[in-house]
Amino acid sequence: MEGSDIWEELKMKYTAFAAVSAVALSVAGMAQAEPQAEVLHWWTSGGEAKSVAVLQEEFAENGGTWTDMPVAGGGGDAAMTALRARVLAGNAPTAVQLKGPAIQEWYEEGVLADISSVAEAQGWADVLPASIANHMKCEGTWCAAPVNVHRVDWIWANAEVLEANGIEMPTTWEEFNAAAETLQAAGITPLAHGGQAWQDATVFETVVLGLGGPEFFQSALVDLDTEALTSDTMKAVFDQMRTLRGYVDDNFSGRDWNLATAMVMNGEAAFQIMGDWAKGEFLAAGKVPGEDFLCASTPGDGFLYNVDSFAMFEVDGDDKRAGQELLAELIVGQNFQKVFNLNKGSIPARTDVSLDEFDSCAVTSSEDMAASSESGSLLPSYAHGMALRGAQAGAITDVVTAHFNSDMSSDEAVQMLADAVANSM
Ligand code: GAL
Repeated sequence: MEGSDIWEELKMKYTAFAAVSAVALSVAGMAQAEPQAEVLHWWTSGGEAKSVAVLQEEFAENGGTWTDMPVAGGGGDAAMTALRARVLAGNAPTAVQLKGPAIQEWYEEGVLADISSVAEAQGWADVLPASIANHMKCEGTWCAAPVNVHRVDWIWANAEVLEANGIEMPTTWEEFNAAAETLQAAGITPLAHGGQAWQDATVFETVVLGLGGPEFFQSALVDLDTEALTSDTMKAVFDQMRTLRGYVDDNFSGRDWNLATAMVMNGEAAFQIMGDWAKGEFLAAGKVPGEDFLCASTPGDGFLYNVDSFAMFEVDGDDKRAGQELLAELIVGQNFQKVFNLNKGSIPARTDVSLDEFDSCAVTSSEDMAASSESGSLLPSYAHGMALRGAQAGAITDVVTAHFNSDMSSDEAVQMLADAVANSM
């Protein structure tokens, strides 16, 4: 062997040794590091705060120190603004409530940590449905941990108010409108609504699904097909939105979603169209499903899913990395998935958690999700960031809100919708 070859060989051996010791050192360091996590989320309502407390407690029981970074504002718009500011300042939080295509958008920025080692050790691929697992992956690696499955297309009702007015839960939009007219004549606000863009979008997408059906929803709000966006069906959707606008009270502008839920709870309003985080509010207030309040899917076929998840951001420090690993492990753990979702109103993302302790609305959700998955009508919620990238979703929501808050005609609305979507591409 020539001198230079020996030198090369030695260098390789030394580099390999150095790499192995670096790994060993970092594992040893991680083992000693006390898990730390600063967690950005938007769970600030009564039911939500109770739910996130479950994670805080489990984290503390396992030696972790949690720094809470709650950003008020339903739907997470304000939280996402806060996140962008932190990342731009080079000071990302350790863990962030993030979901849908936004996960991949942040991954493309090169700022997400890889949590594959936890996912593989815990066998996430075996316990999560493929549709959920796909949202949690970035180019084959695991980049987010799923918490739950929320269903968006729900109507919540005050049981006593419906009974007193001889009204059954509506199963078509005509029935909904007829019930609303009866209620309005009796001096009750038919629809509790908070005039915030994401809440308008939430109602809108349930009407798209209900009037158009699952295939139409897919073409219009997932594939962004121009024909669907400008179709007569879409005009009928905006007509129904205009009708619904007539069923909300005068003070709806800017109202938080949980205050709208409270209106249904106290009988001031009859219905709310909202995802099942609303059930978390009813439950936190001690209300009983089937007795105090009723749940039914909004009229029409299909299931709009909204999966909450946490992504970990690239951060320095063994304590923070240990915190990220612990969080990821706890989030997908069986116990957390049960207890958290009992409070949150959603159902577990894992398929192997028993629903024995869950209420009838949750059981309906789980059965309908399975049936929709079979029939191809399991669809991602656009209003909750599961279907589209931020720019496209934002473009649609702007039009929906502009229409809801003006006297814009349905013809104008569909044209504006098609233009806004085209400009956002
Ligand atoms: C959704 C989120 C839910 C709930 C809701 C209201 O986007 O997925 O967990 O927090 O917003 O804030």
